[in-house]
Amino acid sequence: MSKLILGIESSCDETAAAVVADGRILLANVIRSSAEIHKAYGGVVPEIASREHVEAIVPVVQTALTHAGLSLSDLAAVAVTAGPGLLGSLLVGVSAAKALAAVAEKPLVPVHHLMGHIAANYLAYPELKPPFLALVVSGGHSHILRVRTYTQVDILARTRDDAPGEAFDKVAREIGIGYPGGPLLDKLSAQGDARRLELPIVQIQGSLDYSFSGLKTAVLNALHQAEQKARKAGLPRETLLSNADIAASFQHAVVTTLRRHVEKALEQEAFSAVVLAGGVSANSDLRQSFRELAKERGLQLYFPPLALCTDNAAMIAAQGFYNLQAGITAGLDLNARAMWEMDESEAGA
Ligand code: KG4
Ligand code: ZN
Repeated sequence: MSKLILGIESSCDETAAAVVADGRILLANVIRSSAEIHKAYGGVVPEIASREHVEAIVPVVQTALTHAGLSLSDLAAVAVTAGPGLLGSLLVGVSAAKALAAVAEKPLVPVHHLMGHIAANYLAYPELKPPFLALVVSGGHSHILRVRTYTQVDILARTRDDAPGEAFDKVAREIGIGYPGGPLLDKLSAQGDARRLELPIVQIQGSLDYSFSGLKTAVLNALHQAEQKARKAGLPRETLLSNADIAASFQHAVVTTLRRHVEKALEQEAFSAVVLAGGVSANSDLRQSFRELAKERGLQLYFPPLALCTDNAAMIAAQGFYNLQAGITAGLDLNARAMWEMDESEAGA
């Protein structure tokens, strides 16, 4: 009999619930986002996000179960994102999951949000199995990982400062094109010249780690210089340096940084498959660049369908299945963790 897992996700501005069978088959996937409300503030406001989760969580879970045609008693477990993320937001999902697990007398399964992002790929590719190399790139994190088993990973490299999604959002805000910046910059960059700005690709001596804060600062400096020049000449800044050229140059530098570091990791250790995950894995340039890399090196490449790249609960239910198989469950004293290293996720929350 297949094992049905209810997944719950509330780590940032999406309240989501989903039902997945055996970690692989998606039966229901419901997402309610409060991004429209945060738009006015140029980024996620934690207090507003928490309040929206409180309002949305019960109807979102109910809708997921209705879509799947199931009741609580049909479930094998309730899986929930226990971290990392915004504490007040995480607590809403964790509290709801505890209540549901207690009422239904089912195991409560804590899931690391980034392990969930990787698991989005299990839903799309039935043949995908660890081990593989993963690049997880989101709004808050960036890691290159050795995924040893479904529940065990080693961090090979990480960003030392900003996450790529965060840098996309910041650059988009500065050029005034809105929030969230990733998808908007991605679209805009198609009309821009990636060689217009010469931007730094930061290498950290003696380490596979990388950095995006210098890149972000270089983009902002170029923007401010163009603004000053334009003001003096009485011209709109866009005539000297267009938003499309900024977007294309910036995106190219981010993608080049990530690709170079993955290539270095591949030189140190052989992998037959590379998996992209997280919100930034929706980026068209990143996907294209990694398609080329995979072709050059004869690697299998996997990335989630667009709808499963950004935050959702289907990926949490999928990872929840593998956590349950590995015996990773929690009691009703489970706590949300705003900070949680990926290589500790095996131990549960
Ligand atoms: O994984 P995610 O939904 O949330 C976190 O766990 O952080 O990632 C959200 C991030 C945002 O910063 C958003 O701007 C970025 O992913 N993003 C993109 C694209 N789509 C979403 N960045 C670049 N290109 C995209 N197409
Ligand atoms: Zn995420």
